[in-house]
Amino acid sequence: MSPHGPRMVGQSGASGLPEPDERLREGLRALKGLGPYLWPRNSVELRVRVVAAVALLITGKIANITIPLLYKRAIDTLGGHSAAAPGIIAVPLAIILAYGAARILSQAFNEWRNAVFAKVSQRAVRQIGLRTFRHIHALSLRFHLERRTGGLARAVERGIAGIEFLLSFLLFNVIPTVFEIVVVCGLLWRLYNWSFAAITLATIIVYVSFTFLITDWRIRFRREMNTRNSEANTKAVDSLLNYETVKYFANEHHEAERYDMALRAYERAAVRSETTLALLNIGQGVIISGGLIGVMLLAADGVAAGNMTVGDFVLVNAYLLQLYTPLNFLGVVYRNIKQSLTDLEQMMSLLEVAPEIEDRNNAPALDVKHGAVAFHHIDFRYDTRRPILRDVDFAIAPGETVAIVGASGAGKSTIARLMFRFYDVAAGAIEIDGQDLRDVTQDSLRRAIGVVPQDTVLFNDTIYYNIAYGRPGASRDEIEAAAHLARIHDFIAALPDGYDTVVGERGLKLSGGEKQRVAIARVILKAPKILIFDEATSALDTKTEREIQASLAEVAAHRTTLVIAHRLSTVVDADQILVLDGGQIVERGHHRELLARGGAYATMWTRQQEAAAREALVTID
Ligand SMILES: Nc1ncnc2c1ncn2[C@@H]1O[C@H](COP(=O)(O)OP(=O)(O)OP(=O)(O)O)[C@@H](O)[C@H]1O
Ligand SMILES: [Mg+2]
Repeated sequence: MSPHGPRMVGQSGASGLPEPDERLREGLRALKGLGPYLWPRNSVELRVRVVAAVALLITGKIANITIPLLYKRAIDTLGGHSAAAPGIIAVPLAIILAYGAARILSQAFNEWRNAVFAKVSQRAVRQIGLRTFRHIHALSLRFHLERRTGGLARAVERGIAGIEFLLSFLLFNVIPTVFEIVVVCGLLWRLYNWSFAAITLATIIVYVSFTFLITDWRIRFRREMNTRNSEANTKAVDSLLNYETVKYFANEHHEAERYDMALRAYERAAVRSETTLALLNIGQGVIISGGLIGVMLLAADGVAAGNMTVGDFVLVNAYLLQLYTPLNFLGVVYRNIKQSLTDLEQMMSLLEVAPEIEDRNNAPALDVKHGAVAFHHIDFRYDTRRPILRDVDFAIAPGETVAIVGASGAGKSTIARLMFRFYDVAAGAIEIDGQDLRDVTQDSLRRAIGVVPQDTVLFNDTIYYNIAYGRPGASRDEIEAAAHLARIHDFIAALPDGYDTVVGERGLKLSGGEKQRVAIARVILKAPKILIFDEATSALDTKTEREIQASLAEVAAHRTTLVIAHRLSTVVDADQILVLDGGQIVERGHHRELLARGGAYATMWTRQQEAAAREALVTID
């Protein structure tokens, strides 16, 4: 690890945090949360590994501390201080061999310890990552709509990097170094006198305080660098995402200028950061050399006075250098520990967010026998200040189809979302087969309903995967049958890669209508008791739509179905049509009843028929 290394874990995101010190304190609290993972109750093997790692750590340190002692013995022997003439050759040989062995052991135990502990720390990383992932999925839709997904993913990624860093450095670097300092100071005190220990300790204290102080001051440049760096990244990504737009307006030069502006700021901050790093390193060097001079002067004095040997003189020097080596990286380690604690806290605080919608204690699974759906006088609002649904009251008998029509923003999709219990209603109750949605598990509820959403988003995987998502484990035949019903099989079969075609991010490589048909196939495969089609065929041309309508009617037969549609021609056969306006049901009945009433529905119908007739004329021309 080098102090110049630009890409240390976890340091990429100090920017934008309001109160770093406050967060740091929180981070220390979050550190306690790691405890259970380091002493896993359910795994004897991992606990044995922890004990072994600590034992190896201590043994390694002791070997390390004996190195200078053996060195001193060798020098003294060679210098003839314990000058018993016979065996003068044999004795240093043993000491030198012991010296070599101690060096090897010190290093080998260090590595061995890392190897033994790797499984513990990696298991902790995996479990915490998994727990966070599960938790984020458990959080409610509102939380996800309010947070940027990229930000969430980054918080988790950094948190995990932070854990890795903290485990390896705090546990096996900082704490052992403190241990070594204490032991060495004690040794110096016992072997010689307290002034050696005092100078060593004082040097370390000055060194550490100086490093912390300068590092805290330097953090702002680091932070500036990170902010500018992510700014430049955002600009670059945004610009590349808008590739087409950039070309439409021939604005490449403008884009480059904007990018360079961010780069320039980064350059300035980076130069400042490196300049101040040099300052830090020089200061550290001065302090260490000062300490060394002090101790060596004392030792030289002792040698001159005859109460210390040349070996002792070398010993104190060797100890000090050995102690200071790990401190070389203290600035970086300190900054990264701080950063890692902050990142850890951010991730742990995600774990503390309670889901808005939670299952009731011991909630039973939804028991769908017939599939009767009932909305009892529902009031709903996303934001308390703005009512969306008012007194919405309707029922769908088992196996029947109810259609909801109405202007954009009337609240149609909201009704679909409420059936999935993404939100709880403000007043009234939604029931399936007489069971209030709030009394059953969300999992069982969502298994019972299938939806073709208004905006279909696909996974960036193959078409096969996306259809199979409706029922993981379905056979290839079942998947192709569903694709047939959704009128997409022929299209897929004609693709060069067939079912293995990758659909691109969010499914953007498919047209709107193709995506809709994949979504329909997916729901057909799921084959739930209750179906919701939210503008499921809105992106299709009339001919394909008519074909799919036939399949959908087939699928929907004997299933309770809620259809949301703009094109009224697709709902004429519904058992009941609800006209929603401003969150209220203003008309309801069969198609013919509603036409006869001459109300809002009739007006909409006439307008759409006229438009269709005009279109037909244009096509004939
Ligand atoms: N998550 C949300 N937070 C706040 N308001 C929302 C949210 N989702 C929807 N709304 C608002 O609720 C109202 C109803 O939205 P909804 O999606 O149900 O309309 P819709 O009838 O499906 O319209 P469209 O025909 O355009 O799909 C809209 O005015 C919309 O702005
Ligand atoms: Mg909608």
